[in-house]
Amino acid sequence: MTIAERDAKDFDGQLVRPRWLYKQWMLAGNPAYFFEMLSREFGDFVHYRGLFQFYLINHPSLVKQVLQETHEAFNKQSEIYNRFANVFGGGLVVSEGASWRRQRKLIQPLLGPKSVERYFDGMVDSINRMLNQWELARADGRVLDVLLEMNRLTLEIAGRALFHDRFEERAHDIERWTHEINLYCAKPPLPIIRSIWFPSRRNIRIKRTLRDFHRFMQEMLDRQRSAEPCGSLLDVLLQSKHEESGKPMSDAEIRDEMLGMIIGGHETSSAALTWVWYELGKHPDVATKLRQELKTVLGDEPIRMEHMPRLRYTRMVIEETLRLHPPFWFENRNVARDYELGGRKVPKGSLIVFSRYSLHRHPKFWKNPDCFLPDRFDPDALENPRSRYASIPFGGGPRVCIGIHFATLELIVAVSMIAQRFRLEIDTSDRHAMSAKLTMTPSHGLRVTCHRP
Ligand code: HEM
Repeated sequence: MTIAERDAKDFDGQLVRPRWLYKQWMLAGNPAYFFEMLSREFGDFVHYRGLFQFYLINHPSLVKQVLQETHEAFNKQSEIYNRFANVFGGGLVVSEGASWRRQRKLIQPLLGPKSVERYFDGMVDSINRMLNQWELARADGRVLDVLLEMNRLTLEIAGRALFHDRFEERAHDIERWTHEINLYCAKPPLPIIRSIWFPSRRNIRIKRTLRDFHRFMQEMLDRQRSAEPCGSLLDVLLQSKHEESGKPMSDAEIRDEMLGMIIGGHETSSAALTWVWYELGKHPDVATKLRQELKTVLGDEPIRMEHMPRLRYTRMVIEETLRLHPPFWFENRNVARDYELGGRKVPKGSLIVFSRYSLHRHPKFWKNPDCFLPDRFDPDALENPRSRYASIPFGGGPRVCIGIHFATLELIVAVSMIAQRFRLEIDTSDRHAMSAKLTMTPSHGLRVTCHRP
């Protein structure tokens, strides 16, 4: 039986209905733990009825079905994504049908595996600049918050790719706006306050944030229009035309796409990198093996694009980190028509949710699921082949992350360059609690000191 056939048949569990409002209070604490508790107590297919009603799925075959049939039987017209649409407008993250297809077709080639190579030099330059600052912190024995550092780094990398080099003076504003958007999107879509017009404190703040963000984006658009072509994503989008109509993208379309890519593309990568330093700090044996690979492949040379395929173990460390700490941890879909899922009828209009945090730690699909073991991602390892949908940090199906090649390149380059130059020691007295908002990060940052490797 092939993996695909096994995946299609694999779910043989039951749909379980906990009693009404079962432990609903936990949702207000850490929602990732709430969903994990539901899966552990009731299994892989749970119909939850409380202030929010949903079907929770936690099995690769069910998740695969929902993601692959998105656009047909499932869509993003859920209350949660409708709230996101207040922020992302008509951008890829939330658009549907013909409009999504048109935009995706236009943008995908710009972020393909070969196309992203042109951002390599910019990435290396930004990382080098940060590492030169870290030399000073190392000399003084200063403690750095690596979450903050990674956030600034990935914002600079995304900003340079999107806008070339004219965004830096607003970097602090973008950090603030992104944080505000992250908080807004993470709020449960309660019936009365989900409309952006309701005068709640959060709504007033998000409207102000969006007004400023849009104004900034329009300035960047106008500046790029009157400047020399520079090859940035903004530049390419301004020059591109829709295939069928031959018309250029409107300013509002470009603005919404850029906003989606800044939000989707920098906090996710910075969370992933922070968790890499957390895991390497906790597992010195893995850190040593990683440094050995870097010594063999790079030596003391600066990293080059040709090194990428040989950084096998570095890639495995990243994959294992993304399994345990998926930055974009929560997913949901609206059921577009009555549908039979896992042998049970799920009515049109229902909400399907899943948590990558629980899915990636499913004990049926991973041995010692809570342990950090990069070797399990060795392509030749015995634990393979397994369902591809057992770990999907970038999603799957037609709406798989459009930035996957950009992010993968960025993560490999950043981990290699940083580990080549420094060993980061984490403060073991910190509790390192996890916060699950739009992205999953350590709640209070990650304090580290820098040392020679
Ligand atoms: C470690 C880094 C990243 C992670 C973990 C991540 C994760 C994801 C996931 C899970 C989805 C799919 C959501 C769904 O099923 O609806 C997604 C979609 C998306 N991501 Fe990423 N992402 C990352 C980096 C990036 C980057 C660098 C960019 C931009 C350059 C980006 C832009 C987007 C966009 C625009 C979508 C919507 C695609 C669509 O619906 O067609 N992401 N991302």
